[in-house]
Amino acid sequence: MAIDYTTKIPNNVDLSNDRALQRALEHWQPAFIDWWKDLGPTSYQDADVYLRTATSVDAKGWATFGHVKMPDYRWGIFLADQQTDRTIGFGDHKGKPAWQQVPSEYRSVLRRLIVTQGDTEPASVEQQRMLALTAPSMYDMRNLFQVNVEEGRHLWAMVYLLHAYFGRDGREEAEEMLHRHSGDEDHPRILGTFNEPIDDWLSFYMFTYFTDRDGKYQLKSLAESGFDPLARTCSFMLTEEAHHMFVGETGITRIIKRTLDEMQKLGSDDPEVLRKTGVMDLPLLQRYINFWYSSALDLFGSEISSNAATYFANGLKGRPDETKFEDHDCSKTFEEIETPDGLEQVATRKAMNLITRNAYVHDCGIGFTRWNRLIKKAGFDFELALPVDKYHRTVGVWAEQNFDPQGKPCSPETVAASLPSEADRAYVKSLMVGVTQPGKCANWTCPPDRGINNMAFDFDYVRTN
Ligand SMILES: [Fe+2]
Ligand SMILES: [Fe+2]
Repeated sequence: MAIDYTTKIPNNVDLSNDRALQRALEHWQPAFIDWWKDLGPTSYQDADVYLRTATSVDAKGWATFGHVKMPDYRWGIFLADQQTDRTIGFGDHKGKPAWQQVPSEYRSVLRRLIVTQGDTEPASVEQQRMLALTAPSMYDMRNLFQVNVEEGRHLWAMVYLLHAYFGRDGREEAEEMLHRHSGDEDHPRILGTFNEPIDDWLSFYMFTYFTDRDGKYQLKSLAESGFDPLARTCSFMLTEEAHHMFVGETGITRIIKRTLDEMQKLGSDDPEVLRKTGVMDLPLLQRYINFWYSSALDLFGSEISSNAATYFANGLKGRPDETKFEDHDCSKTFEEIETPDGLEQVATRKAMNLITRNAYVHDCGIGFTRWNRLIKKAGFDFELALPVDKYHRTVGVWAEQNFDPQGKPCSPETVAASLPSEADRAYVKSLMVGVTQPGKCANWTCPPDRGINNMAFDFDYVRTN
């Protein structure tokens, strides 16, 4: 179905033919805009930002680019096209028609899954609200805002499902999404990581590389759901999500390039020497990687999980790219999982979190190959690496145990030394200065290879009035 842009809420779900739902969402819309103005970006709300807006769900050409003020962004409801006769692809209901309505026996658990996913979307906008003030370039500022408006749209995507399929409870949950706030003492966001402010750009790139990628794998699992509207919603969200990880990967790449440049000029890899020139040394980047990656692993939940088994058995949440697997039942097989007590035979269904996480880990590795190639090419003997799975965990079988990033048992002090120190954080903060002249960028990074939508780096991505 084509996207209807003539109504208050752009959508491809035929909203104008469901008056009650339309009214309910139009009632929620002003609350959302108020939230955006109060807890979205602290600055540039009046600026014209070169943003892409979803205008179709067609894989080719689904978005248009143009300057808009963020509060005027057309947040809407877009579901990937419905597949005719789609059936449930895994678990105990495999082969039955996908559900177009919520099965009553799974109502509360589906609602919980949607609320948990939905809550992360506005949370990240809140976490990143101060960042524009220290954007290293106008190009980066624009990318930040793009990520922010799309996370706002992802909230819309989940709120639509709550309103359309969960009646009164769903409407109440939708209200709650705007009442919980990142870091709020009384009403925090649901998942711990989403309550930490992200107030420097290194953390922002790490977040978009590692945490948004966790989001990608959660969405991939939900895109397999037997509840068809959820599957279709998540499929389209994935289209937008790719850019968020691009921002992370290229952000980190540009830092590395700039640092290597200085390392070559000075003929040194000594962090102290490098810090005098205001760049981020590679060991510092490694400590940030250690922190962000290990906390992203926690987001997948425990390696052995009966909840995950139930989601799979009931057809609610599959594995990423479920069709690529041979066995979609998984009730008779086992996985060997390493635990502190040795290797354990675990029913495959109970290992779904780990299976999903392993796909994520593989995906995370791709950037490292590229980064290490750059370092080697520059003539330096240093490799950035993902720490092992059991390193610095607070969730799962390895929680609260002490291993170094390579997996050797160690003291808590050794773990602490492998994470960003107070001095590291203070140093990174000291580098953060806003650069608002188009075509210029902060000293600690370098310009990207190309701009957005074939525009030049010095294009006026953000026009202040
Ligand atoms: Fe998102
Ligand atoms: Fe995202």
